[in-house]
Amino acid sequence: APGASAWVPDRPTLARLRTAVQDCRGCELYRDATQGVMGEGRTPARLMLLGEQPGDREDREGEPFVGPAGGVLDRALADAGVDPEQTYTTNVVKHFRFHTVGKRRIHDSPGRAHVTACAPWLAAELSLVRPAGVVLLGATAGKALYGTGFRVGEARGRLQDWPELVEAPGPPWVLATVHPSAVLRARDDRQAAYDGLVADLRVARTALD
Ligand code: URA
Ligand code: SF4
Repeated sequence: APGASAWVPDRPTLARLRTAVQDCRGCELYRDATQGVMGEGRTPARLMLLGEQPGDREDREGEPFVGPAGGVLDRALADAGVDPEQTYTTNVVKHFRFHTVGKRRIHDSPGRAHVTACAPWLAAELSLVRPAGVVLLGATAGKALYGTGFRVGEARGRLQDWPELVEAPGPPWVLATVHPSAVLRARDDRQAAYDGLVADLRVARTALD
């Protein structure tokens, strides 16, 4: 795949990125997806929330974290005392990757090639948002940035350096935590999973003070 750089505007604004991502052919994921989903929020913002890729709802609506996982994330941010006016929310990969079973669209994790191809969009967002910190949501986003050895259970809840893997002006710190959809998947221990997410987000909020 050629990668997205040829489609990223030279002097980006969020509005320009949102338009330009619809033309991106940096990898094959644009083919089956409904649209590209650019990030959303303040530019600049103190905190960037970085998910994996748009889900089914995000693909249809064109905005990140508008589905069930987004509901969990919003509630957890509020419980952690993070001001939503200080955040920018986006994904490592901008198009939804999925396979179909009958009429259902089932999420597939993006591969390393998709992450690498899509990184110029993230770099452009980082240059606009210039966050003090990035919260990395979930094991897949973690592996995408830190490599296959990344274990969210080990890495979560503490401040780390921006990975060298993604060529972008890195923020001062990254804090990994579980993906909000993992909270939804947890059955008996959903409350514990939610509390863990909130506790990690509190660490991020404290680092912003
Ligand atoms: N999950 C993600 O990682 N990102 C979204 O935008 C929605 C669900
Ligand atoms: Fe371009 Fe990223 Fe979409 Fe691939 S996933 S086509 S690199 S915007």
